[in-house]
Amino acid sequence: MRMLSGAADERDRLLAAADRVRSSERGDVVHFRGIIEFSNHCQQDCLYCGLRRSNTRVRRYRMTPEEIVEAAVAGSRLGLRTVVLQSGEDPWFTTDVLAGIISSIKHRAGVAITLSVGVRPKREYRAWRDAGADRYLLKFETSDDALFALMKPGCALKDRLRCLEWLRGLGYEVGSGIIVGLPGQTLDSIAGDVLLLRGLEVDMASAGPFIPHGDTPLGSLPAGSAELSLKVIAIMRLYLPWANIPATTALGTLGPLYRAEALRCGANVIMPNITPQRYRPDYEIYPGKAGSTEEPRESFNRLNRLVAGIGLTMAGGYGWSGRRREEKTGGARYVPEDYQDR
Ligand code: 5AD
Repeated sequence: MRMLSGAADERDRLLAAADRVRSSERGDVVHFRGIIEFSNHCQQDCLYCGLRRSNTRVRRYRMTPEEIVEAAVAGSRLGLRTVVLQSGEDPWFTTDVLAGIISSIKHRAGVAITLSVGVRPKREYRAWRDAGADRYLLKFETSDDALFALMKPGCALKDRLRCLEWLRGLGYEVGSGIIVGLPGQTLDSIAGDVLLLRGLEVDMASAGPFIPHGDTPLGSLPAGSAELSLKVIAIMRLYLPWANIPATTALGTLGPLYRAEALRCGANVIMPNITPQRYRPDYEIYPGKAGSTEEPRESFNRLNRLVAGIGLTMAGGYGWSGRRREEKTGGARYVPEDYQDR
């Protein structure tokens, strides 16, 4: 709590400490994850999200399985070692359809695959893991039960947390995270969020500011604070030193320099958007999304320059989480390839 609300000099010390921990625990490299937003159909009705079911103004699209695989292959040719497959909660992508996409990408592109497709039954998570998926991203958004229920009608926090447990049990690297600045969210509740992420021992943790979307019930509320989001990222780094922490796109949307700042206060991951350009304007989770008008190569090059500009370099390996080293071998040291030369 103190760290969240501290005065300016404490804030500077917090951010500098997080930068040092990132450097010593994860090195002076940034992992690039190419994100493919393959469907904006969604069954959920989250109050904050532009893709919510009730928003009839969205032009809905689905990429075909072939298009998704091609986008992943193109991403791997840019040098990306991880692709993130993200969509709304879209049942059109059945267990088998998505498993087929995953195994084609594995065969053709040789990249690590992160899935981010929401709440699904355990057997589906298992099938996708068997097909070759490596990681799963499922943000709990807030650890405050009542706020969660308000923001996500029909959903319960405990069900989402149970999914995270299943995913972990199936051998995925698991990621979660929060939105900073949801209406009614307190600093106490954000402190609770970080403790929950730590308790879950997530491999990846993210924090991005709330950005109001005009076609949602929260459209006229103020955006979350970039400054507070940076502090949350720094605190996450101190509490989860092993984790991969992205400089979120939402932060980049509030200002062009914030993602660079995040990478100097704890974050070590950046996610260039490699969705084909024609679909991008329609994946409007929130308005003005950073990079939404660029071609994949442009996003990639721009973020590469951003990283070089702050004295960091793009990592070469798959960028497994630091936690996996001990886990995988029950204590003996397993050294993933991107750690080998350190
Ligand atoms: N502002 C910020 N982040 C948002 N997300 C969804 N809507 C918003 C918004 N209005 C985030 C959620 C979700 C991810 C895909 O996008 O954290 O998990």
